[in-house]
Amino acid sequence: MSDEPNIDRRAYLTTVGVGGLAALAGCAGSGADTSGSESDTDEAGTETGSGMESGSTLPDSVDIGSDIPYRPFEYKTTDGELKGFDVSIAQAVFEDQLGITPNFTDTSFDTIISSLNNGNFRVVMSAMTINETRDQQVDFSDPYFTAYQTILVLKDSDITARTDLKGKTVGVQKGTTGANAAEELKSEFGGDLAIKRYDQIPAAFDALINNQVVAVINDNTVNGEFADQNDAVRFVEGEGAAADAGKNAPPYLTLTIEEYGIAFRQDDDEFRQRVNEALAAIREDGTYDEIYGQYFSG
Ligand code: ARG
Repeated sequence: MSDEPNIDRRAYLTTVGVGGLAALAGCAGSGADTSGSESDTDEAGTETGSGMESGSTLPDSVDIGSDIPYRPFEYKTTDGELKGFDVSIAQAVFEDQLGITPNFTDTSFDTIISSLNNGNFRVVMSAMTINETRDQQVDFSDPYFTAYQTILVLKDSDITARTDLKGKTVGVQKGTTGANAAEELKSEFGGDLAIKRYDQIPAAFDALINNQVVAVINDNTVNGEFADQNDAVRFVEGEGAAADAGKNAPPYLTLTIEEYGIAFRQDDDEFRQRVNEALAAIREDGTYDEIYGQYFSG
């Protein structure tokens, strides 16, 4: 089973897309219906897109708050098309599995949780790490991606270990777990670290290129994507959190191990469960792996 699976999966993904449309057209059964609620009364199979299932009513569309750009999770191509791992997963989970049209709305990451709780959108999909602080304000889906905090520096930099950052200035995105990791380094250095916080990650990368910071602390695959496109930068190498945990650690230093989740308001349990079922379904049927392969080589 070496070479063909790719082709097969691709064909399958197309099929899933069509299946999603069929589900939209009123053909119930979009896979994940294991809820077996007793009210299976089907209300005479109306042909409208919503109400395709018993019991719970799903909306026709869902607004998704996200801070764009955060490549490769959410970004616009040069012709303005929204792409990214989160965007493709949203398509598979909401549209294809649940028959709900996903609409991404661009929003500041720093205020994204309060915006969710204010009702500005229904969920957050923004490469968002599940952590305790956030878990007190929102509810998360099951994890859908593993990430690590990493340190990106200029290629000709003399920084080769985390301790080399002592006394220096690092750049982070405001309100992120990268900012938390920088704070932790700062206390590790007895306060001897300056942290510059940028509203969006591209500004932190610019600051690195322009020598305004010596490093950017940020999620591994996002740093990696930038490094792939810019010969001037590299990861700080070494072992770290991933190696300590005995995970198959990436070849660069990892400060943390994190999991991304989709965030919901705390009163949105039923919807969250449907989304969890859909996430499980796309992991099972190969769609998740197919999407993963489109954005990540490893
Ligand atoms: N994973 C990090 C966090 O949750 C960074 C997420 C930033 N996402 C974005 N779309 N800008 O804090």
